[in-house]
Amino acid sequence: MDLSITVNGMKFPNPFVLGSGPPGTNARVLAKSYDAGWGGAVAKTVSLESAKVVNVVPRYGKLRSRRTGEVIGFENIELISDRPIDVWLDEFRQIKKEYPNHILIASIMEEYEKSRWQELTRMVQETGVDGFELNFSCPHGMTERKMGSEMGEHPDLTEEVTSWVTEVATIPVWAKMTPNITNIREPALAAVAGGAAGISAINTILSVIGVDLDTLRPMPTVEGHCVPGGYSAQAVRPIALRMVSQLALGLPDGISISGIGGIENSHDALEFMLLGSSTVQICTGVMLQGVKMIEELQEGVEKFMTDKGFESVQEMVGKSLPYFSTHMDLVQKMKTAKRSKAGEASRDNEWAQKDITEKTAELTSN
Ligand SMILES: Cc1cc2nc3c(=O)[nH]c(=O)nc-3n(C[C@H](O)[C@H](O)[C@H](O)COP(=O)(O)O)c2cc1C
Repeated sequence: MDLSITVNGMKFPNPFVLGSGPPGTNARVLAKSYDAGWGGAVAKTVSLESAKVVNVVPRYGKLRSRRTGEVIGFENIELISDRPIDVWLDEFRQIKKEYPNHILIASIMEEYEKSRWQELTRMVQETGVDGFELNFSCPHGMTERKMGSEMGEHPDLTEEVTSWVTEVATIPVWAKMTPNITNIREPALAAVAGGAAGISAINTILSVIGVDLDTLRPMPTVEGHCVPGGYSAQAVRPIALRMVSQLALGLPDGISISGIGGIENSHDALEFMLLGSSTVQICTGVMLQGVKMIEELQEGVEKFMTDKGFESVQEMVGKSLPYFSTHMDLVQKMKTAKRSKAGEASRDNEWAQKDITEKTAELTSN
């Protein structure tokens, strides 16, 4: 089945894209993913001066299900790529030569200086990558140099920096949003005003994964100390889905969305597409399951399309958006359906008569 989709002029063999991070660390791992069947990849974020990027160990932390031990949340305090830009430029060239039909997007980040952003854009563009993703969203470490989410949290900066890039870019530019903001539409619309053709959402949510009760140290603990980090994996998916739907309903026509956050299988990927994502990106899922997870993604989406009669991925994009409404409208719809009494079942006396867990189950949809 044909799962291809063309987004901002870029033809993805399928909508499954490696999210920027460890899955796109270097040319070797990118090649392995394309061989496995991934349609595209956003490489690990690059900057002009890798010497300024120094990582710590440990830099990951997990939140596990109390019952099964399954990883439900993941925190990292990893920085952007610490590999020299010249090495990256060679590898971008080499990957595009070997995989001309797969999509390669370069994620870039720089300090707040027009000449630096434009120099990086020009250099990377010359290698033949298909598009850019502007990292306005890494919420830790880089922020101390006023980079990453320090820009994405301020729509005026988001617009200005995007326009520096689009002034010199001849390929599509996506802007990657931070969720650590009240209204994600504001920076997204600012990026669009600056010339972005697409929005990627979301990056990680600021978090503290836990506290070691033996040592009293918050985690991940590095030489006894800690900084808040970025939260990802399945626990963030409902928040990402909400933000993607808000973007899909609030962005001008023609602006694409690349949905990210807690995608671990085809079911999750389909949810993002139905809420307006043309492509989906996966980072932590790949770190935990390996690149082979692409097989279930493809099979699951193909089966869904056959079962539901969709003929292309494009046809599914945004299909669930018309079902969002207002609370007042839901009440009105229940009245019309003569179910207004059902809505009163949560009144005080009912809660007192039944066990609270029973009552909670009664009011739950899934
Ligand atoms: C270890 C790690 C490193 C990451 N590094 C980057 C990065 O360099 N650039 C970037 O834009 N996002 C980075 N991210 C964020 C992911 O691309 C993604 O937006 C986020 O983790 C949510 O998606 P997920 O739940 O599929 O991981 C990183 C995430 C993790 C877990």
